[in-house]
Amino acid sequence: MDLHKDPEFLHHLSTAVLVLDPQFQVAYANLATEQLLGLGHRRLIGCPVSQLYSQLATDIGLLRQTLNQEQGQTLYAISLVTLEGQHHTVDLIFTPLEAQRTLVEARVVDHQQRISQELQHYAQQHAAQLLVRGLAHEIKNPLGGLRGAAQLLERELTDPELKEFTGIIIEQSDRLRSLVDRLLGPQHPGTWAESNVHRLLEQVARLCEMESAGQLVFERDYDPSIPDFLMDDEQLQQALLNILRNAVQAMEGQGRIVLRTRSQGQTTIAGRRHRQVVAVSIIDDGPGIDPAIKDTLFYPMVTNKADGSGLGLSIAQKIVSQHQGRIELESWPGHTEFTLLLPMTLSKEAQ
Ligand SMILES: Nc1ncnc2c1ncn2[C@@H]1O[C@H](COP(=O)(O)OP(=O)(O)O)[C@@H](O)[C@H]1O
Ligand SMILES: [Mg+2]
Repeated sequence: MDLHKDPEFLHHLSTAVLVLDPQFQVAYANLATEQLLGLGHRRLIGCPVSQLYSQLATDIGLLRQTLNQEQGQTLYAISLVTLEGQHHTVDLIFTPLEAQRTLVEARVVDHQQRISQELQHYAQQHAAQLLVRGLAHEIKNPLGGLRGAAQLLERELTDPELKEFTGIIIEQSDRLRSLVDRLLGPQHPGTWAESNVHRLLEQVARLCEMESAGQLVFERDYDPSIPDFLMDDEQLQQALLNILRNAVQAMEGQGRIVLRTRSQGQTTIAGRRHRQVVAVSIIDDGPGIDPAIKDTLFYPMVTNKADGSGLGLSIAQKIVSQHQGRIELESWPGHTEFTLLLPMTLSKEAQ
């Protein structure tokens, strides 16, 4: 195959295909490659592969050493940030060709990944809730007995020194109970009323701005046409606060947080179609989600902070699903974006 002739079928292939010379410089690139990387043909040809992107979650130098004549290599779900700052997730297939050249195919899997991520989140959330509910039940009942018995005992005691011990039992039972309650998240049907999402965001932002002592830049990018809609204002504020506080904590004192709102037509959430939803995004340019915990992020007690409770996101998730919404997450180093999708027209059962 003479690559310089650029066969038409390669040109029109939706998969990005490129051929690298022995120095790992681009010898051939099809149109899909140009589109994926946002680079023109002239800029691509002869360019060392490491200069084609701003970030790639794999070490190309190392890969080059391990590729040999016989064996190719496939890398799945690799995070790619283009020179223009666009993020994609790609599967990369490297195949050695004759004359020490290498064929590279890059398949964009953003869409597939998002769907499977979403399904996974639902499964996760459901499993976590079952676990917590079961555990909470098992803990709360004996705990009630324990506390009651300690109270009865306390009444019988005359020695104040002994009363101190029953006091400890009662106090510690209360502590455990409050932990279990927090694990369970908001239980009571709250107060539903028409409210303004920007007002909530501003309250939460003000709190976090104060906490961060003015070192972080908070930017607003609001869609002013979003009307008031039905929500449990206090709970939603809690969900936003949990997410924004995480962003502030992740930044370690410097960076930029963007609060963005958009309205969005026809959106399906958990199998239900909504005519209008509000997308509320909290975006930070911090280090990104630690890959070690990314898959279980919304589970209760998942944290990588020494003093973290790991409850913030599971509570936020629960509140948002009580609003028939969902939380989407995109994260790579330098960019973390949590988006709350909230239907503007709730059905009766949610309230
Ligand atoms: N904006 C963010 N940037 C980086 N990591 C984040 C961000 N938001 C959440 N995380 C990660 O998610 C974990 C879970 O968050 P959360 O449920 O609020 O618990 P906690 O804040 O107590 O650790 C955090 O420990 C952190 O590692
Ligand atoms: Mg938190």
